[in-house]
Amino acid sequence: MVEPELRVLDRRVVERCVAAFDPLDVVASVLRSHATGSTVLPAEAYLEWTNQAGAHCRSVAMPGGVPGRDGPVYGVKIINAAVSNPSAGMDRAGGVTMLFDPGTARPCLMADAGHLSALRTAAYTLVSLRHLGPQSCESISLIGCGALAREHLRLLARYHPAITAAHVYDLDPGRISALAGWAALQTPGITVIPCRSAAEAVAASTVVITVTTSRKPYIEPDWIRPASFVAHVSLDDLTEDVFLAAEAVFVDDVTLVKDNPRRILGRLMAEAKVQETAGTLGEVLVGTRKAVRPHDGVVVSNPFGMSILDIALLEQVARAAEEAKLGSLLRVFG
Ligand SMILES: NC(=O)c1ccc[n+]([C@@H]2O[C@H](COP(=O)([O-])OP(=O)(O)OC[C@H]3O[C@@H](n4cnc5c(N)ncnc54)[C@H](O)[C@@H]3O)[C@@H](O)[C@H]2O)c1
Repeated sequence: MVEPELRVLDRRVVERCVAAFDPLDVVASVLRSHATGSTVLPAEAYLEWTNQAGAHCRSVAMPGGVPGRDGPVYGVKIINAAVSNPSAGMDRAGGVTMLFDPGTARPCLMADAGHLSALRTAAYTLVSLRHLGPQSCESISLIGCGALAREHLRLLARYHPAITAAHVYDLDPGRISALAGWAALQTPGITVIPCRSAAEAVAASTVVITVTTSRKPYIEPDWIRPASFVAHVSLDDLTEDVFLAAEAVFVDDVTLVKDNPRRILGRLMAEAKVQETAGTLGEVLVGTRKAVRPHDGVVVSNPFGMSILDIALLEQVARAAEEAKLGSLLRVFG
């Protein structure tokens, strides 16, 4: 048998191919499959180090399997990051996602992971907002003004035309102005309103999205308006008291969150402090758990981040690329 070639899709091709499908539909479908036990999600491997500039670097290898149109789809996402990259003009995170031929197990497709990773994360936030957020909102608060902030604004502009303002804050004022400049061109329907502190931004609306690189929780319960939804995407922004007082806490996968003591909710779940209130968004989508929208307190969404979302999105990208004959073929094996 002849060794297969490896198809390679760069960022430009991935960005072009995502226009062929609805990312929220793909994400919701995977969450339903995951809630009914039809996915494979092994533990991820985490490697970290400090670079010559003293900045934190890490590599995360995340394998997974999802049901596809023609049978199971297996793959792995390898997403690396150095916090010093943005100051050098690069995205903090980057890597590759691979799909495997289910018959021979050879990697058959390799694609830029950064864009899909940001897309799947923002799509997860929007699915959670749809089911767990306030019934309506006209503005959001964004803490952190990097790549994830841009992708959230892009999807909010596409799916929530009623949202016309984003109150934003970043420790680095240069990143606030860069986001405002980007949004003026890319999401002109959403006015970016710079805030002088995280507390000011959090208090400005009832939908708060954290996309920082903070390793130390700092958002206190009394910063947050009553009846708010918080998408705690960056995982170390909310203090313990916010979780303890929350009306409900929803995660993507209880085991992934609980087994990770590096993050605040993992620590609280390991100590059984929030176990009672934590369910998954997938359970809500399949109807085995009641959705809770904010009433007079706070509903928190805390997604750890699942490879199966990237793999399912990449399968859709691969189909679009194949139809349009995009990408390069490399002879790597044999
Ligand atoms: N949960 C998930 O599924 C998931 C998926 C992907 C990324 N993430 C996380 O999202 C976060 C953002 O990713 P990104 O690629 O946009 O990073 P980025 O480096 O491009 O942007 C992060 C921004 O946060 C700012 N920041 C850091 N600490 C802050 C603080 N305390 N207050 C305000 N601003 C602060 C930085 O100055 C920077 O501009 C990362 O922590 C990443 O790990 C989570």
